[in-house]
Amino acid sequence: MDSKRVFLSEKEIPTAWYNLQADLPQPLPPPLHPGTKQPLAPADLEPIFAKELIRQEVSQEPWIEIPQAVRDVYAIWRPTPLTRARNLEKALKTPARIYFKDESHSPPGSHKPNTAVPQAYYNKIEGINRLTTETGAGQWGTSLAFACSFFDMHCKVYMVKVSYQQKPYRRSMMHIWGADVTASPSTETNAGRQILEADPEHPGTLGVAISEAVEAAVTRDDTKYTLGSVLNHVMLHQTVIGLEVEKQFEKFEDYPDVVIGCVGGGSNFAGLAFPFIRHKLKGKDIKFVACEPHSCPSMSRGQYRYDFGDTTMLTPLIKMYTLGHSFVPPGIHAGGLRYHGMAPMVSLCAALGLVEARGYHQIECFEAAKLFAATEGIIPAPETSHAIRGAICEAERCRETGEEKCIVFNLSGHGFCDMASYDRFLSNKLEDYAYPQDRIEAAIAELPVVEG
Ligand SMILES: Cc1ncc(COP(=O)(O)O)c(C=O)c1O
Repeated sequence: MDSKRVFLSEKEIPTAWYNLQADLPQPLPPPLHPGTKQPLAPADLEPIFAKELIRQEVSQEPWIEIPQAVRDVYAIWRPTPLTRARNLEKALKTPARIYFKDESHSPPGSHKPNTAVPQAYYNKIEGINRLTTETGAGQWGTSLAFACSFFDMHCKVYMVKVSYQQKPYRRSMMHIWGADVTASPSTETNAGRQILEADPEHPGTLGVAISEAVEAAVTRDDTKYTLGSVLNHVMLHQTVIGLEVEKQFEKFEDYPDVVIGCVGGGSNFAGLAFPFIRHKLKGKDIKFVACEPHSCPSMSRGQYRYDFGDTTMLTPLIKMYTLGHSFVPPGIHAGGLRYHGMAPMVSLCAALGLVEARGYHQIECFEAAKLFAATEGIIPAPETSHAIRGAICEAERCRETGEEKCIVFNLSGHGFCDMASYDRFLSNKLEDYAYPQDRIEAAIAELPVVEG
């Protein structure tokens, strides 16, 4: 089919999310209590999360129905288009077919509201009126603020300090949707005060901001915590992306050989990839590529071990690819990719050889973003530029081998609030940085020891 883009109708918004847990060849290692190191019971998570989200976290059912109230909010921007990047293909002189799923269409500008909306909804129907969270680049914070405004809930966001300074407009968006935003580390929590005492200039990390947001939730009865990535229920909600892509490829009469996404905590990658990993587990030959920065190489240089999800060791221990909870990545512009760990489900897929990790430097990613903007017109988020670089590398390989592969990547967000980073790139002020091996080893040496 010669179309440039395939749209679906509102009626084709998926009615159920796909749960890869049901089909994985081996079960996920359970989360452990941070003190006793024994497996956690789902009820142990109730002070932090809504009950339905905990049920989804451990569910082994392959399909979980999407409530109508959630589909109604999804309909504001979903289904999102799948576009064939013909101009990019021409510029690369590649025989490959390149497609991208455009998640930048959501009002906050990324894939994150796919899970923010159901998380706010389930909390609301369980009687919770206030949610806390952390945000890196500000995409997740804006998405939760957006979702809370639809369900008339209060939203409190701890925003990583470097992003708070670099991205004032994301802050403004959160304010427009009624959220309360604090730069992290802050003096509002014990976790923040402890970090600031040790280093008053601490730039903040997602791990630190998680510690603050969790503390702010467990110390109040009317409040629960939400997470924009990493957890199984977040991966689940994001599968609307790949489920729509499946239908759109049918209309294009095509099928992917290579599926690509950038990875911070793993959710946009999982959202596109998991519905296709189910096909791979049934025998389809598909390659899955997770793209991450060399400056925060959780999958390519981390270890598959139990670690804390946050910096101050408050969260349960989860088995994942990690650089160690004490890892402080440099303040690269793709703030949403600066997380020490990786979703346990994406990690298990990588450990089983279903997913490959690739590291890229930030300058080559901004160059890829510039070429994409010049050919396809969209200015991507710096996070997304890692996926674009990954897709370009695959397409260039096809140019060398003559293979006519079908490549799809997730355009996880637009970069309209990231123009300060683009300005630094255009004025040659960016530097590439690979995290030194001795510092990775030092952080990994601090990992908790878990038997078995
Ligand atoms: C546009 C965009 N893409 C990707 C990511 C990385 O997160 P995840 O790996 O959970 O998709 C972020 C995180 O903030 C983001 O804002």
